[in-house]
Amino acid sequence: MATTTAREVPAGRVSDLVQAEEERFRKARPRSHELWTEAREVLSRGVPSSFQDAAPHPIFVEHGQGSRVWDVDGHEYVDFHNGFGVMVVGHAHPKIVDAVSAQVRRGSHFAQPVENAVVVARELSRRFHQPKWRFTNSGTESTLDAVRIARGFTGRDRVIKIEASYHGHHDALMVSVEPPPERMGPADDPNSFPQSEGIPAAIVKLTTVVPFNDLPALEKAFARHKDEVAAVIVEPAMMNVGIVLPDQGFLGQVKEVAHRNGALLIFDEVKTGVTIAPGGATERFKVTPDLVALAKAIGGGLPCGAVGGREDVMGVVEEKRVAQMGTFNGNPLTMAAARVTLLEILDPKAYAHFDALAETLQGGLDEAIARYELPFHVITLAARGGVTYRARRVRNYRDYLEIDKSFSYLSWLYQCNRGVLMAPGAEENWTLSVQHSADDVQRYVDNFGEMARDLRQ
Ligand SMILES: Cc1ncc(COP(=O)(O)O)c(C=O)c1O
Repeated sequence: MATTTAREVPAGRVSDLVQAEEERFRKARPRSHELWTEAREVLSRGVPSSFQDAAPHPIFVEHGQGSRVWDVDGHEYVDFHNGFGVMVVGHAHPKIVDAVSAQVRRGSHFAQPVENAVVVARELSRRFHQPKWRFTNSGTESTLDAVRIARGFTGRDRVIKIEASYHGHHDALMVSVEPPPERMGPADDPNSFPQSEGIPAAIVKLTTVVPFNDLPALEKAFARHKDEVAAVIVEPAMMNVGIVLPDQGFLGQVKEVAHRNGALLIFDEVKTGVTIAPGGATERFKVTPDLVALAKAIGGGLPCGAVGGREDVMGVVEEKRVAQMGTFNGNPLTMAAARVTLLEILDPKAYAHFDALAETLQGGLDEAIARYELPFHVITLAARGGVTYRARRVRNYRDYLEIDKSFSYLSWLYQCNRGVLMAPGAEENWTLSVQHSADDVQRYVDNFGEMARDLRQ
């Protein structure tokens, strides 16, 4: 954790290094720049999703294999981005290639149930202790459905979410994801800030926002909206503002407060599910919610999501009171990949491997932070982890705002220019795969050590 002797980095040092690294980045990637220029003629901002629009400019990827990806300028990277946390199986895993190839030869879409859907749902049931499941195609759809099911079950309209949690881009939860400080309101009663134009004010009004790790604020929110709240939705460990861990006992207390007020608890395990433990945060923090939303890593690289829940709660789908549907739900290619991912690749050995890699990262980075007396600390949780660019623990969004984001941008540039691809965005953490080796993670540690040394020169 934090070094006791941490000293501030002199102002100006980071911006000088950023400038030099940006220049190096641009010089080495003419083809990506050319493609991006062309892309802007036909794709808004030159990218398929706004998350991919990152400074200095997007990197166009040519192919991936194992723990590595190659860009169109011929650079090879150890992939710590892993498709925003999806590719825990690594790229082109032979078992995924075999399973998907075999299925595509037998038909790629029927919109009829396939046997693998039963196998996958049974395995999710075992891992997450939820008896009933439905499939979706993304995290956005999973949290959208979870909220609708909770509203249907309780007959209430309001949802409570955590300030700065991202749950996908649908209207109900695209609220106060990254509210600007001047619009976020008081800490004990944050404003509900629409994160995009085009979201009706009437919808935003139904979403109440509370800070993470703040039980009194949650109690107050329930008191202000007595008998109105359908559910509290939380990322059990926040993973879109670096990594923010729950206080000891916090998640269990949220469940108790929600239930006392007639509301449900939804875990958004889109990022934590099957990555921080076989049964995600449910297993790691020993709290089982009423509904869980999954996506990303469960599909082994294919667009898969799932929503699971209590028998009585999912009863609203069973009884056709709540509509849960989609042409591609339970698609045969997706189900074939998910089956292999959950039953053959993410086995106990895989989680032991993640823990060993995490230990190397934690040890190496802690050592560099201590040696250069930097005000940073490291959090690792099996396949996930990241550096927080502040000495003290972050407990909520307000703490996160105190971090100077130029450190994470500099780190992104250092890693990228030295063969490690991180997810774009100051707030992103890393994702490891079963195909990463000790040498792969050592490359990250060595690059970090170089940056740490340069920050002190
Ligand atoms: C916690 C969380 N929930 C939901 C989502 C939305 O998932 P998707 O991009 O698959 O719609 C994300 C995406 O990053 C996420 O991090």
